[in-house]
Amino acid sequence: MKKIITVYFSRRGMNYVNGSIVNLKRGNTELCAEYIQRAVGGDIFEIVADREYSADYMTCTEEAQDELRRKEQVPVKEYLDSLEDYDVIFLGYPNWWGTYPMAVDTFLKHYNLAGKEIHPFCTNEGSGMGGSRRWITAAQPGAIVSQGLAIHGAEAPHSESRVAAWAKSVVE
Ligand SMILES: Cc1cc2nc3c(=O)[nH]c(=O)nc-3n(C[C@H](O)[C@H](O)[C@H](O)COP(=O)(O)O)c2cc1C
Repeated sequence: MKKIITVYFSRRGMNYVNGSIVNLKRGNTELCAEYIQRAVGGDIFEIVADREYSADYMTCTEEAQDELRRKEQVPVKEYLDSLEDYDVIFLGYPNWWGTYPMAVDTFLKHYNLAGKEIHPFCTNEGSGMGGSRRWITAAQPGAIVSQGLAIHGAEAPHSESRVAAWAKSVVE
């Protein structure tokens, strides 16, 4: 039996949804991560940046853009000791400026995931997966990175069946 984990980054609070700013009590990626765990089992872990992003959406986008420009290795609050023990890693994140948040890059580079399956899922407001798969491959050149799943963030609350079907299909 393959050992599965879902690892994700998600930001609650003010966000841009279908053209307006709304206050998300649960992050879009967080919802999708839970759909995956319900569908295929395994463990779940949230990547948390060791920094406060602004609650204000526009300010947060500027902070994130600055991190990306500098390719900053944003510190992560906590690591899992045993990520290498898993065979299958579902990796979830929002699209931030065309790729994943920099804390996800820091997290990935902490491990050696050669030979592991990574299945990315990315919530977004129109840019799909962006270039995030390339970043994953650069951070973990030996991993097997699947095509992944892009989910429109505004649709996340209604996407359980689609996300679950995808997760099941990749672990079969
Ligand atoms: C800092 C920041 C940058 C973003 N950049 C993009 C982007 O480049 N393309 C896009 O389609 N959506 C972008 N978005 C929208 C998010 O990807 C989308 O709302 C996502 O579902 C948020 O997931 P979360 O609630 O799990 O954090 C951005 C949002 C934030 C906060």
